[in-house]
Amino acid sequence: MSSAIPQPVLARLTRAAIFLVVTVNPGPDHRAAVRALCGDLSALLRAVGFRDLEGHLSCVMAFGSDAWDRLFGPPRPKALHPFREIRGRHHAVSTPGDILFHIRAARMDLCFELAMQIMARLGSAVSTTDEVHGFTYFDDRDLIGFVDGTENPAEQAAIDAAIIGDEDPAFAGGSYVVVQKYLHDLQGWNALPIEEQERIIGRTKLSNIELDDAVKPTSAHNELTTIVEDGEQLEIVRDNMPFGDVGKGEFGTYFIGYARSPHRIEQMLLNMFVGRPPGNYDRLLDFSRAVTGTLFFAPSATFLETVAAGDAAPAVAGPPVDGAPGTPADEARAASRDGSLGIGSLKGDREHD
Ligand code: HEM
Repeated sequence: MSSAIPQPVLARLTRAAIFLVVTVNPGPDHRAAVRALCGDLSALLRAVGFRDLEGHLSCVMAFGSDAWDRLFGPPRPKALHPFREIRGRHHAVSTPGDILFHIRAARMDLCFELAMQIMARLGSAVSTTDEVHGFTYFDDRDLIGFVDGTENPAEQAAIDAAIIGDEDPAFAGGSYVVVQKYLHDLQGWNALPIEEQERIIGRTKLSNIELDDAVKPTSAHNELTTIVEDGEQLEIVRDNMPFGDVGKGEFGTYFIGYARSPHRIEQMLLNMFVGRPPGNYDRLLDFSRAVTGTLFFAPSATFLETVAAGDAAPAVAGPPVDGAPGTPADEARAASRDGSLGIGSLKGDREHD
């Protein structure tokens, strides 16, 4: 069993969140600034979070496929690749993003302060591609009025769904994360009879009870996102948040799903956008348009600490030498032999400039 400590991907659902997606600007100094932040993130989190411990501030930092190579080089998480767009009955777009910060707290001011501190630290190293401030809306409902998150796995089932184990030992404790920003046609949706909306979601609207199989269509959202392979249900951990801009008539759901493999999220998306069988697609998409789509990898917290420790010393090529004297890079490698990750010599600067 790996001793790598995961990032707080399974943090409990909170009242506020900021989803910040940035790209890393070219240049070795910019990449060094990002790697330095990897090590400083936990201290920043403690500094801001301590101002209100009841606020349960947390932050997950995750990296896109290309960014991984530029920032850390090999080894790379086995299943990390750019988000694959889907052109089915509806279009799941693939949009750029090198780093995702998923910041959650009971209060927006905590999220906002941490986002400010992170961006101050990164300065000109990054450019923001998307920033969404999410809020909880009555009884954990999304803006289409349904309770969202009910069937999320909890406790051990959540760990089994979202945290990498022995299938990729070098990256155990990590998690894949897909984000998609959806904009709703609320006027069109609200014009549907409630019974029709319930058949689209697969649950009752007011009481949030799952529809009986006898009346639930095979195209219902909760049917198409239930996938079973080799007799096992493949679950994911979601933390969707409503967001919007009333003045602009923008009403959305920010979808975020964590999983131990991107495959399970991709299969759900195929079922939704293409249909299962093809053509039997998710009618929620007739009223909800995906305007972003990006896949990231959230390495363990141990990785983030170690990558910064490795940064303190010159890049070391070649395998670690047992019993070598204790430079910071040696300590990082020793940590990797302890079950954290072998990243003491991860520098990709030259190849990618
Ligand atoms: C517009 C975007 C979306 C909205 C408004 C939405 C809303 C909902 C609602 C209301 C439920 C029922 C309650 C619950 O169990 O949470 C649900 C269930 C679920 N959704 Fe979504 N969802 C969205 C996108 C997605 C996407 C993109 C995925 C996966 C790729 C997904 C995966 C799931 C899963 C796995 C369930 C639980 C199914 C079950 O086991 O019953 N959702 N969603």
